Amino acid sequence: MKILGIESSCDETAAAVVENGSKVLSSVVASSEKLHAKTGGIIPENAARRQLELIVPVINKAMKLAHQTPTTIDAIAVTVGPGLIGSLLVGVETAKTLARLWNKPIIPVNHLVGHIYATWLQTKKPRFPALALVVSGGHTDLVLVQGHGKIKWLGGTRDDAAGEAFDKTARLLGIGYPGGPAIAVQAALYVKRNPDVKFNLFPRPMMSDKNYDWSFSGLKTAFLKEVQNKELSAGQRTKLAAEVQEAIVEVLVKKTLRAVKEHNPKSLLLSGGVAANTRLREKFSDEIKANGLAISFHVPEPKLCTDNAAYIAAAAYYLKDSQETDDVFANPQLTISD
Ligand code: KG4
Ligand code: ZN
Repeated sequence: MKILGIESSCDETAAAVVENGSKVLSSVVASSEKLHAKTGGIIPENAARRQLELIVPVINKAMKLAHQTPTTIDAIAVTVGPGLIGSLLVGVETAKTLARLWNKPIIPVNHLVGHIYATWLQTKKPRFPALALVVSGGHTDLVLVQGHGKIKWLGGTRDDAAGEAFDKTARLLGIGYPGGPAIAVQAALYVKRNPDVKFNLFPRPMMSDKNYDWSFSGLKTAFLKEVQNKELSAGQRTKLAAEVQEAIVEVLVKKTLRAVKEHNPKSLLLSGGVAANTRLREKFSDEIKANGLAISFHVPEPKLCTDNAAYIAAAAYYLKDSQETDDVFANPQLTISD
């Protein structure tokens, strides 16, 4: 079964063709990152306008690269939320139009659930029950996945998402947008020069609380105090980047592994844009080993962690939840367990 996936929830315009939920025949991602770098963040109006310009060329390219025509595609999958309403509408309305024109079933996909299915695009498939941590620019959610589409929410952020903490602190350091990759580069420079250093400058909010919630807004305030009214040298900037990365990574790993011990899942899945972070991936692997946890750890290759349409098509294949075209709507407020 070949599914054309369409993703336009934020600042990436993406289309992909995936066969049987696991073989990526094409995956095209056009990012309007450079446009948003100029403003230091996303202006929803600008993002939606760019989505409009890019959506048709991106879909055409994905179909062409996968050597597909409308007759060889079995279904169309589209992200319906959460995200920015203007951006979502572009993908949803395009998908609905194509579904009608080509007479194909349409499968609406929750963007956050989609992120989890990036782990199904790897050769080693997850097994149920699985525990999944989704860390993106707008969300931080820990869920138990008991089967396809059977998701139980365990906890999440009470304020800023993990990706937002990266983006906001990078902005305070003046090192670029999106912040996660920029912080990671600076942090790696610092660790290379100071391999044995211990990090403890910033608080680890809620790390010992007996729940699965996070809070990252205090971290941003603590960071602001460190940089405010100071002329920072390049070396100081790398140190601050390494400190904040470690604070974010440590709370994510500690609480997630506590949930592993409590719920005893067969697989642990890490996904969302922040899952592209090398230090986060490495710390999860190290701590799983150090704690002697018998769990298989699944994290997509970095380019499948950040927004793309391949995981949307994969999720649609496993969820098999096709809807009447008229019943498919964009919903910016969708949560992971909706
Ligand atoms: O999932 P995603 O591509 O888009 C959303 O659904 O939000 O996630 C984007 C987030 C941004 O906050 C970005 O800074 C972060 O993922 N990110 C990273 C890395 N690559 C992307 N954060 C830390 N390290 C990275 N290497
Ligand atoms: Zn995302």
